[in-house]
Amino acid sequence: MKNPYVHGYHSQESARLQDQASTLEGLLHWDTSFAPGSIVLEAGCGVGAQTVPLARNSPGALIISVDISSASARETCERVAQEGLANVRVLQADIFHLPFREASFDHLFICFVLEHLPRPVEALRVLMRFIRPGGSITVIEGDHGSAYFHPDSAAARRAISCQVELQKRAGGNAMIGRQLYPLLSLAGFSEVSVSPRMVYVDSSRPELVEGFTKKTFTAMIEGVGLAAVGAGIIEKDDFEEGVRDLYRTAEDDGVFCYTFFKGSGKREG
Ligand SMILES: C[S@@+](CC[C@H](N)C(=O)[O-])C[C@H]1O[C@@H](n2cnc3c(N)ncnc32)[C@H](O)[C@@H]1O
Repeated sequence: MKNPYVHGYHSQESARLQDQASTLEGLLHWDTSFAPGSIVLEAGCGVGAQTVPLARNSPGALIISVDISSASARETCERVAQEGLANVRVLQADIFHLPFREASFDHLFICFVLEHLPRPVEALRVLMRFIRPGGSITVIEGDHGSAYFHPDSAAARRAISCQVELQKRAGGNAMIGRQLYPLLSLAGFSEVSVSPRMVYVDSSRPELVEGFTKKTFTAMIEGVGLAAVGAGIIEKDDFEEGVRDLYRTAEDDGVFCYTFFKGSGKREG
């Protein structure tokens, strides 16, 4: 299967995923914890940016993390070892061909992965088979349609839409966050519940200006410039103006808002 991951696997993207996870840990994970003795499948672990907080916050749970990229799986292994976490196993595997017995996990965790998959409902249905009856799922996704900022800028909005378009061409959906409720329901999960997690950034929160506005969001948009210009979606100057305007929102009088969506559901027992 073609791996549609639009951001690529270079070292800047790895650093961006780590910045994103550490900046957003409180917002996204204050209510993520797994009971001692439970076995959790993390699907699409990337470079381990979520794996570390998951494992650290649930020391009695065993986290089995998989990624389709063997380089990312290796990086997750190294990161977990550096952090001294003994409750994680990592392997290279495709969500659509998992090497596990069905119904062998208490919980499934999947973060920033469905947005890259052409068949997200099918992926959820496949993954549900690996959750034991009565077990649960947590899904986290962003939604680029939720980005608004001050000063507003048409060029910045055009630069963001390049990312949306490229992801669409690769078969994904950068505005999937708003669809978590229908996707989980369609896939057959029960007790579905979605909680929006808004990031609000102004200059009174310098750690978010740095960690979110600059290093997570704008860095992600900046990272697709070459591809967007190469694909003829936008002119180079227009894109650069958009990125400049996104960085402008990180100045003293700037504001940046973005909403993530965290969904949960159960496999019926
Ligand atoms: C944006 S990264 C997110 C990584 C991590 N969950 C995080 O939040 O930092 C998406 C990851 O999904 C992985 N992925 C995409 N398709 C996959 C598939 N079919 N099976 C397993 N992993 C997949 C990619 O290789 C990539 O590492």
